[in-house]
Amino acid sequence: MRHIHPTMVDGSPAAPLRREHAWQSAARAASRVCRDRRERTVSVPEYLTDPEAAALPCAGVTAWHAIVEEGRVKAGDTVVVQGTGGVPLFALQFAKLHGATVIVASGSDEKLACAKALGADHGINYRSTPNWEETVRAITGGEGADHVLDVGGAATLGRSVNAVRTGGRVSIVGILSGARASDLDLIAVLQKKITLQGINVGSRAMFEAMNRALAAGRVRPAIDGVYPFEDAVNALRRLEQGAHFGKIVIAF
Ligand SMILES: NC(=O)c1ccc[n+]([C@@H]2O[C@H](COP(=O)([O-])OP(=O)(O)OC[C@H]3O[C@@H](n4cnc5c(N)ncnc54)[C@H](OP(=O)(O)O)[C@@H]3O)[C@@H](O)[C@H]2O)c1
Repeated sequence: MRHIHPTMVDGSPAAPLRREHAWQSAARAASRVCRDRRERTVSVPEYLTDPEAAALPCAGVTAWHAIVEEGRVKAGDTVVVQGTGGVPLFALQFAKLHGATVIVASGSDEKLACAKALGADHGINYRSTPNWEETVRAITGGEGADHVLDVGGAATLGRSVNAVRTGGRVSIVGILSGARASDLDLIAVLQKKITLQGINVGSRAMFEAMNRALAAGRVRPAIDGVYPFEDAVNALRRLEQGAHFGKIVIAF
């Protein structure tokens, strides 16, 4: 499996991830061409199917980077993940592996039930409960969560800041609703001494560490469905509708 960030072998990237890196990576993985330089490829756990392994390099490594490498999640922590796409469901699994309490925010009660089946302790529907950060504070006895994995961006970052405790952390992973957050309360950031951490996929070393943890816990990625290439339009339509839970795989 090709490591997705070619300039990030260990630690931080040597250069920003460029669009062509991602496309190269996807194209090569899809065609199973792994003759790249040794430092750019990673062996994946053998018990995983190919569709499951395909979920690892981007969604898996990004979640591992946020929750484990930077977040240093530990038993007793409370972690909030937004949505039920690939990244937050990996984050849920990694946080549970480390003994954390996990709160999932989703726009669907059905998906929240699935998240609980995957190990989530609490679910909040952000459509019926738009002030979901207040529910997070209530669940945590008024303190706030230790860590929020933010995928919403502009529409959610301010709420994420209000959902974390003093000294807490917000991992900025996605910008699904836009990249400029106008309701971000910087006074709350400095008064609560919050860490805002940008996450950009991850290194080969992180990928390998994640694989060891996956194998030890026999963890399987959440796969929404596997579509043959001829049915790729329906796969993309499901993604566009936001009907998926976990990763959608197109098989070649
Ligand atoms: N930084 C990086 O290196 C990196 C790596 C991978 C992905 N990403 C980005 O991270 C984001 C999430 O990735 P993914 O694979 O999980 O995407 P995805 O599979 O497309 O999942 C999107 C899900 O996010 C939830 N969502 C959408 N708007 C939301 C909002 N305003 N508040 C809370 N949840 C919301 C929805 O979940 P529900 O249907 O449950 O409500 C939606 O189904 C994307 O923007 C992706 O581009 C970044």
